Formats: sequence, structure tokens, C-alpha cells
Amino acid sequence: MRKILVTGGCGFMGSDFIRYMVETSQVMIVNLDKLTYAGNPENLKSVEQNPNYHFIRGDIADQTAVNETLASLAGQAGIEAVVNFAAESHVDRSIMGAEAFVHTNVLGTQVLLEAARKLGVSRFIQISTDEVYGTLGPEGKISEESPLRPNSPYAATKAAADLICRSYFKTYGFPVIITRSTNNFGPYQFPEKLIPLFVTNALEGKTLPLYGDGLNMREWLFVRDHSRAIERVLEKGTSGEIYNIATGTELTNLEITKAILRVLERDESLIEFVKDRPGHDRRYALDWAKLRRLGWGPQAKFEETLRQTVAWYKESETWWRRVKSGEYLKYYQAQYGKRGFNP
Ligand code: NAD
Ligand code: DAU
Repeated sequence: MRKILVTGGCGFMGSDFIRYMVETSQVMIVNLDKLTYAGNPENLKSVEQNPNYHFIRGDIADQTAVNETLASLAGQAGIEAVVNFAAESHVDRSIMGAEAFVHTNVLGTQVLLEAARKLGVSRFIQISTDEVYGTLGPEGKISEESPLRPNSPYAATKAAADLICRSYFKTYGFPVIITRSTNNFGPYQFPEKLIPLFVTNALEGKTLPLYGDGLNMREWLFVRDHSRAIERVLEKGTSGEIYNIATGTELTNLEITKAILRVLERDESLIEFVKDRPGHDRRYALDWAKLRRLGWGPQAKFEETLRQTVAWYKESETWWRRVKSGEYLKYYQAQYGKRGFNP
């Protein structure tokens, strides 16, 4: 059976990819995750008993742990691919302190690349972001050829990782592919990001803190479409290439906030304009023609999946209350030992 090592699979996007792959294809998924504050094995409850899913706790920046994990999986058929979702992912946290971001996003990526290269892994997918391109003016789209101009410490570490990936392809011919997607949304997203924070705040009767004038724009992608894109790149992508993943669904933060309140039937008086995020990128918008040529396109309709997502948070109150209160940390700390960064 095909074996894929997924890192960071206990987070939002990695867990969606694992659920999708385990449920739809004959593939064995091994999930290597450090379980930082953002890693929650509860996200994978639906597959944890599946014989094709295995969890290993470990840090991608820990050379010994990574080498041991890869060696133990090498077996007869070996590992077909590594998909690196593991990262510190929240821009606001990177502004508070960048160390964990450099550790995981930069060193972690290099350690993983090196171990995978030595083992002769035949595909390495680096999950990157539109933020590496920096902010865009009111018009136009960014292609894969555009220069990297990251503005937050988070984005800078993701750009650094992309460049290390590029060097592994150019120098060693190691088969790396980079994907850069726009803002994902959907179930199991940590309630520090805009949509889950605002939905759960509104459900709690709290205000929704909108940064600056609320007119920064983001392009929204339903997480399951992202998982399908990664599957497509795994199967059809060309080594050394970069693929943007996007939808064309561009909204200002104010528009998306109002849309959330409409779905929840809550009053706009919950919106509270607060001090802007330092270095706040105004707009991201990607040209994804290259991925379209591989046969991928978004299937989700934005309004419908936003409604589904809001409904999921309404139904999953136990999940998000345990996350917001920190209860989930205590349980998994007892099971797996001390947490890593940012507990
Ligand atoms: P997340 O914060 O929800 O999850 C990150 C996961 O990585 C967690 O399970 C965490 O425990 C794990 N992790 C962190 N450090 C680790 C380490 N050193 N070793 C092993 N595991 C570690 O993140 P997400 O939103 O699911 O994002 C996943 C990836 O996609 C990231 O690389 C991010 O940069 C990228 N991305 C995210 C978005 C988005 O909208 N969320 C968009 C584009 C790209
Ligand atoms: O664009 C892809 C990126 O999307 C990913 O690389 C990141 O990992 C992911 O966190 C996300 O980054 P953003 O900074 O765009 O996402 P966030 O949800 O933090 O913010 C979305 C927008 O909403 C942004 O313009 C800031 C604004 N915002 C966010 C929060 C948390 C607010 O106005 N108020 C808030 O409380």
C-alpha cells in the first residue's frame, strides 16, 4: 500500500487532508505532529481507529526524531511522499515572537527535506502560502513567478522555507513541489483565525475585533478544496514547480464579518473596530491557471460552505469551548506529555 508521511496533521488543514485521504483512497497515512497549542488529535477522532492511519508525536526540527520516524516507515514499499503541513501558522503570534516560527517553519523544513532526501523519497510537497508574495495593490493577481516580498515574521519564515525547498531541487534534484494557497476556512480551524474567532465570539455574545478599517482583502478557499488540490499535485504535479491554489472569491474583512453575522442572525453592533495589525497586508489574490491545467478547480460555493462552516461551529460547541478554555491541552498533555511551544 502507498505510504504518505503528513506532518502537522493534527492542525486545521493537515487534519482535513488526512480525513479526506483516509476516507477516499487506499493509502496509509502517518502523521508526525509535535502537538503544539494548534495540534489537536480530537480533529482526527473519525479516523483514529482506521488501520490506515498512524500518529507519531514528534518535532520536524528534531533531526533524530525525524530520521527515526522515516527509517521506521521505510519498510518494504518505502514512503511515497512527504506532505509538510507542520508550521507555526498565525501571523499575530509571529508578531509577538518569531522564535518558534524560525524553529519550525525554517529549521523544521530543512531537517525534513534532508531526511527525506537521504531516504530517497520520491515526492515532497511543501505547503506554503500566498503571504510569501507580500501585499498586492487593488488590481491584478500574483503568479508563481512573482518575487517574494514577505511582510510579517510568519510570512518571512514561510518564504525562507520555500527558498530552501527550491535549493534542494536545484542543487540535489530532490523532487520538491511547493504549493501556495490563499486563506482556508472550514471545520476544525483554530479559533484564533478570523472566521472561527468571529463565529464563536458571536455565539458567546462577545464583540468581533476587526483590525483597522476592515477593508483588507483576502481570497477564501474551502479547506476540502485545498485537500483535493494537494491530492492533485501529488499525482500530477511536476517536481521543482510551484502551484498557487485559489478561488477568485475575494472579500474585505468587513464583508466577511457581515456575512457571518447574517448567517448567525446576529446584529452588526457586535463589530468592534480595533487597532490595526502591524505590517497588515492589504490584499492577496492569486492567479491559479497553472493548477487549473492539472485539472483542479474549486468545487465549493462560497456562501454555501460558509453556512456549512458556521453550522459546524454551532453543532461543535464542545470542541471549540474545550479549545478556547484550554481544556483540550490538559487532556493531551496527560496522554502525550509536556506540550511544545506556545502552550
Ligand atoms: P495549524 O496552526 O492549524 O496547524 C499546524 C500544525 O502543525 C499543528 O498540528 C501543530 O501541532 C503542528 N506543528 C507545529 N510545529 C510543529 C513541529 N515543529 N513539528 C511537528 N508538528 C508541528 O495550521 P494550518 O492553518 O492547518 O496550516 C497548515 C499549513 O498550511 C501551514 O504550513 C501554513 O503555513 C499553511 N497555510 C495555511 C493557510 C490557512 O489559511 N490556514 C493558508 C495557506 C497556507
Ligand atoms: O493567506 C494565507 C494565510 O491566511 C496563511 O498563510 C496563514 O497561516 C493564515 O493564518 C491566514 O493568515 P491571515 O493573517 O490572513 O489570517 P487571519 O485569520 O489571522 O486574518 C484574516 C484577516 O482578518 C486579516 O486581514 C486580519 C484580519 N483579522 C484577523 C483577526 C484574527 C481581524 O480583523 N481581526 C482578528 O481578530
